[in-house]
Amino acid sequence: MSAADLTGAVLERLQATPDPRLREVMTALVRHLHGFVAEVGLSRDEWLAAIRFLTATGQISTDQRQEFILLSDTLGVSMLVDLLAEPAESGRAGFATETTVLGPFYVEHSPAREYGASIAERPSGEPAWYTGRVTDTDGNPIAGATLDVWQNADDMLYAVQNPDSPPDNLRGVFRTREDGSFAFLGVRPTDYPIPADGPVGRLLARTGRHPWRPAHIHVIVSAPGYQTVATHIFDADSRYLTSDAVFAVKSSLVRTFERHEPGSGPAPDGVPPGEPWYSLRHDFRLGRAPG
Ligand SMILES: [Fe+2]
Repeated sequence: MSAADLTGAVLERLQATPDPRLREVMTALVRHLHGFVAEVGLSRDEWLAAIRFLTATGQISTDQRQEFILLSDTLGVSMLVDLLAEPAESGRAGFATETTVLGPFYVEHSPAREYGASIAERPSGEPAWYTGRVTDTDGNPIAGATLDVWQNADDMLYAVQNPDSPPDNLRGVFRTREDGSFAFLGVRPTDYPIPADGPVGRLLARTGRHPWRPAHIHVIVSAPGYQTVATHIFDADSRYLTSDAVFAVKSSLVRTFERHEPGSGPAPDGVPPGEPWYSLRHDFRLGRAPG
């Protein structure tokens, strides 16, 4: 039996798959996987190393840590899926805000917080006042839209990564007012390395790559009748904007934090007296849900 015979036999066996989409996906997967193994001439030892790598990726994953998402992110697959799902015009005027990766640190059921409230449940970094509006693609305000936000602290960690942190620190769910506006107090996010102590981190090191992501906050914006946008706001001052370990930067999502010295004007509630703070404005546009 030749290699081509073997590939052909597997593909033929898959022809009985009743679900046409599953048949299409599995056929392409086997074709590419066999092609890859043949192209590199994968040895038995290398095949076993790959099995061990995938096994370790599963074994280190928990409710709090998703190593397979990290693997997908660092191989650029998460962003490829994102790019294919999104219209090419996204981010331009008159079109929806661009999406980007969800990342491995999203936790459902963040606490609902009031307009203007702080998401920091303990001192977590330099205060940052986030404001903006949620509109449709024509600029009409969307009242009652939901913003689910999460970000890291100045120790570079998300609450979910840090057993010493209050579990809801730096996360919260907000609703827009009648004019589509939202506001909340967070902190200025920091650059951070993705978890590098597992199989994905070892793969990055073996391939000469750094694990750093440019500072950002995460936001999922949703409203009934509109398409949900899972996205980031990136800090324009980050040194990693051009080398994000997970390839997730889109230029329309980069914003500049404006610094305010103490005494330079009224500070938002929650900013400790005498401390500098930052402000950032970012509007979100949602496209109509199909149908
Ligand atoms: Fe993140």
